[in-house]
Amino acid sequence: MLADKHILLIVGGGIAAFKSLDLVRRLREQGAQVTPVLTKAGVEFVTPLSLSALSASKVYQDLFNLTDEAEMGHIELSRAADLIVVAPATADLMAKMAGGLANDLASTLLLATDKRVLIAPSMNVRMWDHPATQRNLATLQGDGILVVGPNEGDMACGEYGPGRMAEVPEIIAAIDAALADGPLNGRHVLVTSGPTHEPIDPVRYIANRSSGAQGTAIAKALAALGADVTFVTGPADVPPPMDMTVVKVQTAQEMLEAVQAAGAADAAVFAAAVADWHVANAGDSKIKKDGSGLPKLDFAENPDILATVSQMSKGRPKLVVGFAAETDDVIANATAKRLRKQCDWIVANDVSPETGIMGGSENAVTLISADGAESWPRMSKDAVAATLAQRIAEAIA
Ligand code: C5P
Repeated sequence: MLADKHILLIVGGGIAAFKSLDLVRRLREQGAQVTPVLTKAGVEFVTPLSLSALSASKVYQDLFNLTDEAEMGHIELSRAADLIVVAPATADLMAKMAGGLANDLASTLLLATDKRVLIAPSMNVRMWDHPATQRNLATLQGDGILVVGPNEGDMACGEYGPGRMAEVPEIIAAIDAALADGPLNGRHVLVTSGPTHEPIDPVRYIANRSSGAQGTAIAKALAALGADVTFVTGPADVPPPMDMTVVKVQTAQEMLEAVQAAGAADAAVFAAAVADWHVANAGDSKIKKDGSGLPKLDFAENPDILATVSQMSKGRPKLVVGFAAETDDVIANATAKRLRKQCDWIVANDVSPETGIMGGSENAVTLISADGAESWPRMSKDAVAATLAQRIAEAIA
């Protein structure tokens, strides 16, 4: 299972770091390649030399190391692995991750990665029980971070309780599960995202304010569950995810063609804010302000991609999910939209300016299905994506 898998192992500064040396050995015995990253505090517990000797790899320690950056930049390092494992994950590392800090190599890699992350927390029982750590844990789980342990037992500090790092075989089992048992392994999921640009002439276009943040987060969350994702995106503000098929389009017509060319999918999520109309008489050359009056634009309707796919008589994905961005009567409008378009689910949200949702980092959605409407609490777009991906996995299992 682990053969030829590449693990980036971040070793934090805790007494359990000595177990990480054994973890490296066991992973390598099973054929995995391990690249260690040692934090400043980690060096107090294990030496770079022992980690390097056991992993037969260079040990990365500094964010601003010219030689390392020349060989492999930190962004590349964060993406070259199949899985990132943090063991031991100290209270400090968890807090950095939850807060999105990037002030050393380990935290920067964790923020920059597009891979799944598994943490093995290890700390004093009171530090583990502290509301701050428990808050951080909930945030990390909401972000889709996998957690193994901690176990209950005697601690190096003489106290007793939860806080001991999981044992090496437990961590290896969690790594196996993270790498092998994505519930969407072998499933093809299509995701549309971002706005579309509809040309008026070669230099002007009609667009909308979609940033592509929610669609991108959904694509990443689906991939994190093992799905083979085709990501069809209009010109979005946020960069598309790595490690999936990305098809960049401009117009609604191009988006439809890309969706139709993507092949059979098990599920499709239409998060794009597709323009409703295009300019039928778009000019081949720039429209001039030449005194002959205002230009007259003729609009024509764009194809409805969601409705087209929902109503396919052959090869329809098992689950088709649409989005409804509304400013009033959200649930009623979205419920009607689900029936009109004939998709299975609608993820509805209120995008009135005062909600700050359009272009923001949070979302408050209602999932509308044949079973009714289910409102989720306001949460980060990443957490909405992780929750939705999990529900999709259950629906098409
Ligand atoms: O714009 P509207 O409210 O109809 O969008 C609802 C859903 O339909 C969204 O999921 C959107 O991605 C999809 N849609 C589409 N093609 C269109 C218009 C909307 O796929 N032309």
